[in-house]
Amino acid sequence: MLENLQAQPADKILMLMQMYREDPRDTKIDLGVGVYKDASGLTPIMRAVKTAEQRIWESQDTKVYTGLIGDPAFGDAMVSLVLGEAVPRDRVAAAATPGGTGAVRQAFEMIRMANKDARIFVSDPTWPNHLSILKYLGMEMVPYRYFDDETRGVNFDGMIADLKQAKKGDVVLLHGCCHNPTGANLNSSEWDQVIEVLLETGAMPMIDIAYQGFGDGLDNDAAATRKVAAAVPECLIAASCSKNFGIYRERTGLLMAIAADPGARKLNQDTLAFLNRQNYSFPPDHGARIVTTILNDADLRADWATELEEVRNSMLGLRQQLADELQRQSGSNRFGFLAQHRGMFSRLGTTPDKVEALREKHGIYMVGDSRMNIAGLNQQTIPILAKAIVDVGI
Ligand code: LMR
Repeated sequence: MLENLQAQPADKILMLMQMYREDPRDTKIDLGVGVYKDASGLTPIMRAVKTAEQRIWESQDTKVYTGLIGDPAFGDAMVSLVLGEAVPRDRVAAAATPGGTGAVRQAFEMIRMANKDARIFVSDPTWPNHLSILKYLGMEMVPYRYFDDETRGVNFDGMIADLKQAKKGDVVLLHGCCHNPTGANLNSSEWDQVIEVLLETGAMPMIDIAYQGFGDGLDNDAAATRKVAAAVPECLIAASCSKNFGIYRERTGLLMAIAADPGARKLNQDTLAFLNRQNYSFPPDHGARIVTTILNDADLRADWATELEEVRNSMLGLRQQLADELQRQSGSNRFGFLAQHRGMFSRLGTTPDKVEALREKHGIYMVGDSRMNIAGLNQQTIPILAKAIVDVGI
């Protein structure tokens, strides 16, 4: 029977990780998968995470199941980290999920349960796995213009014109901050206009926020999500703890469903629990417990926030250095956008054959759409990358 299976297309980000591993050149540079690396190329365990794990190890006396939505204390801590005071807590249902991807998957399934004909408006481009999961679930996608290849900023007029085509019963998928893969983001007044369009059309927003703290700071990065959530009647939010707590392999995420009024919350909460039960029963707990321990302890939380700021500032420094180095080596200002972009990624805005030339000739690995992971760079590799970019004629 299993011979009937059809081979599935490889995930382009994971395929690139494999190609990098197999490249024997010791000068190779990995700017592929979105994982933070320090100057020595390591993805460190954050100090607060280590301390929290130690406390959990010392105090935990059972590994019995938590609940279908995970430990409610995790939900409370994360709702407050992401939403602050923007939405009354009695309108917010929440469930722990295996990573941010688990939250995205459950959100899509919830949408499909509510309206099997819902169209999901997705930014062009968006994280490739958004598209892959939607395709797998058989859901209709409508791309909206987002990235401007000329300016390497947001094509805001195009975006708004396309979002106006949405209608009640549709969903608009937005990146809360640090857009993946482009690094180009909306400013505050542009978010206001997006909210106006959402209210006009009646489409429901779904926000994927996977990089809170990596762009302009913990609260600034959540500002758009809070603003949207406060303005619309209903909203889904998928949050990831992989990046900002550096606990990638612990698979820690939260799906929030905001109801129009407190009375409608219970149905959302029950649906989240049902979906968890159907897909994997109880969500993983260890990462969620680490996050809860950190967020509910003033000292640990302060230490975590400080270390996250160090990570954020180091990425901002790398952005500026790369932009400066490219200006020096190319003699032009055309790479200034790299310092304007935010988060872990920037899209260079070049063709797949030039991305391939970077890989073949220079051992520099970035995703085929020219997305590079800024955190994969360091002082030594910045001049090498700049030289290679100029060499292949980008
Ligand atoms: C990425 O975009 O590189 C990350 O979100 C990791 C992944 O799972 O693709």
